Amino acid sequence: DWTPENMVTESINAIRTQVGDKHVLCALSGGVDSAVAAALVQQAIGSQLTCVFVDHGLLREGEVEQVRNDFVAATGVDLVFADERERFLTALAGVSDPEEKRKIIGREFIRTFEEKAREIAGERGIDFLVQGTLYPDVVESGGGEGTANIKSHHNVGGLPDDLQFTLIEPLRQMFKDEVRAVGEQLGLPEAMVWRHPFPGPGLGIRIVGEITEDRLAILRQADAIAREELANAKLERDIWQFPVVLLADVRSVGVQGDGRTYGHPIVLRPVVSDDAMTADWARLPYELLEKISSRITNECPEVNRVALDITSKPPGTIEWE
Ligand code: XMP
Repeated sequence: DWTPENMVTESINAIRTQVGDKHVLCALSGGVDSAVAAALVQQAIGSQLTCVFVDHGLLREGEVEQVRNDFVAATGVDLVFADERERFLTALAGVSDPEEKRKIIGREFIRTFEEKAREIAGERGIDFLVQGTLYPDVVESGGGEGTANIKSHHNVGGLPDDLQFTLIEPLRQMFKDEVRAVGEQLGLPEAMVWRHPFPGPGLGIRIVGEITEDRLAILRQADAIAREELANAKLERDIWQFPVVLLADVRSVGVQGDGRTYGHPIVLRPVVSDDAMTADWARLPYELLEKISSRITNECPEVNRVALDITSKPPGTIEWE
């Protein structure tokens, strides 16, 4: 019968059998799936696992520390950290087209991962790659085995032929709530276990317009306020996701103190959903929206307007880009 304890024990046994004394690589994204998958593999084979975490500079406030400090402390995982913020910003300079942003971020991610994998493989040899595939992903992609099955979302397809790994997918039988239960069982940080889905291209696709360091700083600050207030209202677990979007190429007139401002709008995009295929805008309490709006306009000098996205999916997507 299904309990997190049984699931952990079973997974650990299966991973040990599959891996033997070989080496395993895992790309951490900061998300719950890769974190739980890595933690399971760590429990099973310890130092035979190396995790790679690429900071592309598009993460939210506190997320890098969450992985580098809290996750490592909770699991004892061997982590290779790659600070690639410059590289991504440079590659993204001047680009505002959403698809082009996604392509560049995906490409740079693969290149970074490949470099790190080669460095690590040079010392110890790598045979397996951990993938946080869930049961719904398996169903969606037809249930087959192997590398052809990697969701393009997961950012690890596209590795060169001489750098292919056999996949380990310890979450293949699980739904999201089961993954969270296993994460709690493994003692992972609560903020990580309950983290909302977050796209691989990160804040890069939540800035409408060119991505710059200044714009990222504005969005990071507004996003942190929205998340903090949602958590204070204890509504985090009631909604699916809460993208916060910076309309960086739009300005509107405002007034603050005795001065006229000409700042940027922030859009709040809270949604409820079961699987992200369809979604509805979340009816968050007005008091909460008011708090978020006044804090963002008070604390982010570049923002003078907060808008609420009340579009369902379809016709809108959850993300703006
Ligand atoms: P949309 O915007 O298509 O998003 O309604 C559906 C879900 O997918 C997430 N999303 C992504 N996740 N890499 C990811 O890992 C991506 O490139 C990506 N784009 C969208 C989005 O946050 C939502 O949960």
